[in-house]
Amino acid sequence: MNVLGIETSCDETAVAVVRDGRMILSNVVASQMAEHAKYGGVVPEIASRRHVENINAVLARALDEAGLGFGDVHAVAVTNRPGLLGALLVGVTAAKAFALALGVPIVGVHHIEAHLYANFLTHADAAFPAVALVVSGGHTDLFHVKGHGEYVLLGRTRDDAAGEAFDKCARLMGLDYPGGPAIEEAAKTGNPKAVPLPRPWLDDDPFAFSFSGLKTAVRRLAQSENPPAVPDLSAAFQESVVDVLVGKTLRAARATGETRVFLAGGVAANARLRERMRAACDAAGLSLFFPPPALCTDNGAMIAATGFFHLQAGHADDLTLSTLPSEPLAAVVP
Ligand code: KG4
Ligand code: ZN
Repeated sequence: MNVLGIETSCDETAVAVVRDGRMILSNVVASQMAEHAKYGGVVPEIASRRHVENINAVLARALDEAGLGFGDVHAVAVTNRPGLLGALLVGVTAAKAFALALGVPIVGVHHIEAHLYANFLTHADAAFPAVALVVSGGHTDLFHVKGHGEYVLLGRTRDDAAGEAFDKCARLMGLDYPGGPAIEEAAKTGNPKAVPLPRPWLDDDPFAFSFSGLKTAVRRLAQSENPPAVPDLSAAFQESVVDVLVGKTLRAARATGETRVFLAGGVAANARLRERMRAACDAAGLSLFFPPPALCTDNGAMIAATGFFHLQAGHADDLTLSTLPSEPLAAVVP
């Protein structure tokens, strides 16, 4: 079954074709990042307008690269929640037009669920149950995934998402947007021990996260009379975030007794996080799954893969499919 996946929830216009939920036939991403960079973050109105301009060409290219015609697509999956409302509407409208014109099923996909499912695209042995950490620009969520569609939210961030913290701290240090890759690059030549920064463990809530105090500490140092060197501050910030993300994920694996750990979302592209999570999981005898960097950040392939699993389970939507700017994953699937 060839599923077309459409993603427009933020600043990437992305369309992919995936066969049987696991084989990527094409995966086209038109990034608007350069345009938003001058504002230091995503401007919703600009994002919507660019999606409108890009969507048809990206869709045509995805079919072309897959070597398929319109008639070879058996279903269309689209991110309909959560995300920027105007941006989501562009993808959902395109998906509806496609489904109506071709008479194929449409399925709305939760963006965070799709980040998790990116793991099925490159790991034949990926399976649930698992503990899953989704770290993106908008979310820092730790789940106990009991099976397909069975998500128990163990904890989430109380304030900034991990990616948001990378983006804001990068800006404080004069680095480019998006801040994650910029901080990772700067940190390569820095010493994480050169600058003492707090670790927000929140011991009253073992699975919750908070990055606003860390951001304030970075701000104070960056704006002080004698600011630390950017590589050192970058490395210290990254190490603090990674310590907490790894520590809490391992804590969740111990508490649930699960032996699989899934890492997903844009921040999962971070090499230091991947390396430290790998070492911690190896030491604890846990199997770790994370997607290749290009499938950690927003893409259409993860949407198509998730749509396939929903269709297999008998869930499809119709042309009344709506868009939702915020919707917790735990609440939408029984
Ligand atoms: O998943 P994603 O592409 O979009 C959302 O759903 O939010 O995540 C984007 C976020 C941004 O905050 C970006 O700075 C962060 O992921 N990110 C990274 C890295 N690459 C992207 N954070 C840390 N290290 C990276 N290498
Ligand atoms: Zn995302």
